[in-house]
Amino acid sequence: MDKIRQLVLGPTNKVKQSIEKYLEKEGLKMSPKECMSLLWVNLKVCCINLVEFFKVAVNYYGNMKFLKADISLRLMYLFHNPYKISKRFLINKGEKDIYAYGETPLTSMDLITKECHITDKDHVFELGAGRGRTSFWMSTVLGCNVTGVEYVPEFVERADMIIKKLKMQNIKFVQGDMLKVDLKGATACYLYGTCLDDASIKKMAVKLAKLPKGTKIITVSYPLADYADVGSFELMKRFSVAYTWGNADVFLQIVK
Ligand SMILES: C[S@@+](CC[C@H](N)C(=O)[O-])C[C@H]1O[C@@H](n2cnc3c(N)ncnc32)[C@H](O)[C@@H]1O
Repeated sequence: MDKIRQLVLGPTNKVKQSIEKYLEKEGLKMSPKECMSLLWVNLKVCCINLVEFFKVAVNYYGNMKFLKADISLRLMYLFHNPYKISKRFLINKGEKDIYAYGETPLTSMDLITKECHITDKDHVFELGAGRGRTSFWMSTVLGCNVTGVEYVPEFVERADMIIKKLKMQNIKFVQGDMLKVDLKGATACYLYGTCLDDASIKKMAVKLAKLPKGTKIITVSYPLADYADVGSFELMKRFSVAYTWGNADVFLQIVK
């Protein structure tokens, strides 16, 4: 019995000791238990990403334009982590709140655009487009016009390189602050801006309320009516969508 206990506990203790050593070396104040649960979360995210990868390959890689754009994006960011690029930009900008960068899984974007009836007749403005993966997906798979607005120059420069290389017509990126960029021509806007503070969301809501009547505004986690004058928007739909960090409510509202 003792031998069996030793066999099981021996390696476990060794793992525990090496974790403790590593944490001490890195100066991290974390118990091995907390560290293990973080590793577990990481493992879960890896599995979710793997499943998402296969779903994307099966469902959308038949579209050659998207396949080329997505492979270009993957190669371009092979050694340049978008999370790090975004973090570096925020630090250099002197932001106090360094939020984590995130992307909408394409299968979720598929659900969102179906629920919101986005078609090839639409001109979608993606407000805070990140490295542009969702914008590329909408322009190639849905065939709509897309303008991605993003304030990290590195993301925009790289997305522009792909547009040029693949001679894409119905997509462009604008480097700048979404609060200041001209949204003329938009029939729909997608705002996954969980990182925006309340003051910025309010400013954005006031700006979006001035768009032509009937413009679709899709927001993640919060409805715009909470931030604009009463009667500026009509909430059409609310539904739940999976993001890598968990489920979130998505709101479709139209400008009144
Ligand atoms: C959560 S990511 C979403 C990326 C992409 N829309 C998606 O769904 O996969 C938000 C992006 O918004 C950008 N962003 C945040 N505030 C912005 C602003 N005021 N103007 C332009 N871009 C902004 C960030 O740099 C980041 O890339």
